[in-house]
Amino acid sequence: MELLRFYLNGKPREIDFSHRDSPPLSCSVLQYLRQYEKLTGTKQVCGAGDCGACTVIVAHKDEATGLEKRCSADSCIMRLPRLHGKHLLTIEAPERFLDTLPIREAFLRERASQCGVCSPGMVLSSYIHMNNHLPMNQDQIRRSLSGNLCRCTGYQSILDAVISLDRNPDLKSGREDPLDFPQVEKRMHAFVQGDNVYLLPLTLEDLYVARKKYPAARIASGFTGSCMDYKGPVIDISRVYELLQVHVSDSGISLGAGCSFETMKMQMAQYFPYMIPYLDSFASLQVRNQASLGGNIADGSPVGDTMPLCLAHDAVCVVCGPRGTRRIKASHFTTGYRKVALRADEVLLAVEFPFPEKGTYYFAHKQARRKNMDISSVSFAASVRVEGKTCTSVRLAYGGMAAVPARALHAERFLKGKMFSQANCQKASAWLEKDFSPISDVRGSASYRMDVAKNMLIFLYESYNGEHDGR
Ligand SMILES: Cc1cc2nc3c(=O)[nH]c(=O)nc-3n(C[C@H](O)[C@H](O)[C@H](O)COP(=O)(O)OP(=O)(O)OC[C@H]3O[C@@H](n4cnc5c(N)ncnc54)[C@H](O)[C@@H]3O)c2cc1C
Ligand code: FES
Ligand code: FES
Repeated sequence: MELLRFYLNGKPREIDFSHRDSPPLSCSVLQYLRQYEKLTGTKQVCGAGDCGACTVIVAHKDEATGLEKRCSADSCIMRLPRLHGKHLLTIEAPERFLDTLPIREAFLRERASQCGVCSPGMVLSSYIHMNNHLPMNQDQIRRSLSGNLCRCTGYQSILDAVISLDRNPDLKSGREDPLDFPQVEKRMHAFVQGDNVYLLPLTLEDLYVARKKYPAARIASGFTGSCMDYKGPVIDISRVYELLQVHVSDSGISLGAGCSFETMKMQMAQYFPYMIPYLDSFASLQVRNQASLGGNIADGSPVGDTMPLCLAHDAVCVVCGPRGTRRIKASHFTTGYRKVALRADEVLLAVEFPFPEKGTYYFAHKQARRKNMDISSVSFAASVRVEGKTCTSVRLAYGGMAAVPARALHAERFLKGKMFSQANCQKASAWLEKDFSPISDVRGSASYRMDVAKNMLIFLYESYNGEHDGR
């Protein structure tokens, strides 16, 4: 029987899921901490990745560098078996492993904790901000804390507390004792509990074997999409080596489908800096550390944020299975509402973003009810090539306007070959009425969506003209 092995706040843990008092395989890290470890410093509020009250720190050893890496996570949506081989740190961790004392003192000094429910999460997100050596200004700190809500609206005192740490000479954060990690063999791991199973393959070969043996098991990557509430047998592909690869060639960049959104942000920054504010508005740091590019695309959602980018770039989805590899244009990948072109035995392996031809301009903008932590009402990504003053090539891709993310082909046809001007973008926007018939739902009425979609074309022009930064 395989044991789950990890460290918690400096102490080793082993869980035998076949034991009758063990947590269920679908147990969240939060439930485990509060119910089984009686560590109640980590708070439960929304239980859905929306508030950051349950923030913890998960450390792992980077295989390539051997260095320890610490990331924040929402423990309410993180499955317990994902801790295999890792070190979990909570607000209760001894200072020699996680030195949050100066941050906690600053919170007290600045009266940044009122009811205190959000405080442990706020402290840990502030810790990660400093651990990543990010600038200590309001804007950067706000971004680092954007996944943490304070219902008492103590935001200004929380910001003041973190900023005050810039002047603290005693700050030891990042200079703690090295963490221990359990020895786990380099092979597929399988945790079994009655009829249920949780498989952790490390290679594509393992994955194919696992699928053959457990055909009913569901593929899951970050568990932040449609897998979030699924409790049955799973094949967790987040450690499959081939799915985590990033390749850069003369023609473009290929991102493994298992890459998290934080990895995608880091990798794209150099080649497509325009994407960064757009990707920064995806959920929160905690969710971006866990959610995968592949899960976003394979979910086939009309409001998934990456497909408009893929359509604007004419990206290629590379899929693979035991029968080989196929390349599918992004425009043919989503085949209907939450339907994609994957065969039953295939997974999404990577997404290839070609490098643009000279003179191509990119733009992306996401409209949601609030800036962070919200699904798009309408998302937009565009590429325009302008030669002289003429628009010689254009791709306008929208999310939230139809059952699938789609290009605005009528508007594109109007713009192509014409002068790229505000007046022509305005005229092109009228063609969106022919391209889309959006629906009304909680994220916006049909007419609101259409107005936003039209405004996006003006934003595109203003951004091209240096008048709008895409935020
Ligand atoms: C708080 C919160 C905020 C969010 N905010 C946003 C947002 O701003 N924008 C947005 O677009 N989404 C958002 N989401 C949705 C979700 O985070 C994303 O869609 C995410 O990319 C899903 O990836 P995952 O790895 O977690 O998918 P999972 O839930 O693990 O899987 C989703 C689906 O994809 C399949 N799958 C996963 N990987 C592969 C693969 N490589 N090959 C084949 N099938 C695969 C699974 O079988 C499953 O059907 C949010 C979710 C939460 C909880
Ligand atoms: S309890 Fe709100 S994010 Fe976990
Ligand atoms: S102090 Fe009460 S929720 Fe933040």
